[in-house]
Amino acid sequence: MDTTDLVLAILHHLLVFSLAGIIGAEFVLVRGDLPAATLKRLAGIDRHYGIIATLIVIIGICRVFFGLKGWEFYVYNWVFWAKMAAFIIVGLLSIVPTMRFISWNRQASSNPSFSVPAAELASVKTYVRAEGFIFLLIPVFAAAMARGYGY
Ligand code: HEM
Repeated sequence: MDTTDLVLAILHHLLVFSLAGIIGAEFVLVRGDLPAATLKRLAGIDRHYGIIATLIVIIGICRVFFGLKGWEFYVYNWVFWAKMAAFIIVGLLSIVPTMRFISWNRQASSNPSFSVPAAELASVKTYVRAEGFIFLLIPVFAAAMARGYGY
């Protein structure tokens, strides 16, 4: 029994489910009407995205170094690196939506008649959809690497 490994695994799961919830919430919200209150909510939810993603990196790295299997189990495993690549791609795909949410929220606060430009909304929907899709690959890679696939 290893309490450190257990605690790290619990925190990792709670954080990744939170991130899934955030991506899901953004996915749904950008498909509805976008009054100022919703834009504010989107910007607020998205702020948590950055915090949760940072914590996932910290806890994930702790799992690599302080987990039961030892770092050698992961660093020579290509499925682990595929999982890291997918996580980085999701992060990169989130940059444009984050910038838009901040900008829309700022414009809606200063201009009550602001409405989100259709072209910007269409591109944000595409980015969030792509994020959600690539995100789904991460638990697939995680389950495979945890079971020793990838050498
Ligand atoms: C820097 C980012 C990350 C690192 C370094 C990392 C690292 C790890 C490590 C070391 C394990 C333990 C695997 C084992 O038991 O041998 C693990 C498990 C897991 N990770 Fe991550 N992870 C990261 C991000 C994510 C993300 C974003 C997700 C989102 C779905 C995720 C989902 C999982 C799942 C579901 C497991 C459990 C796999 C299983 O036991 O079947 N991880 N991760």
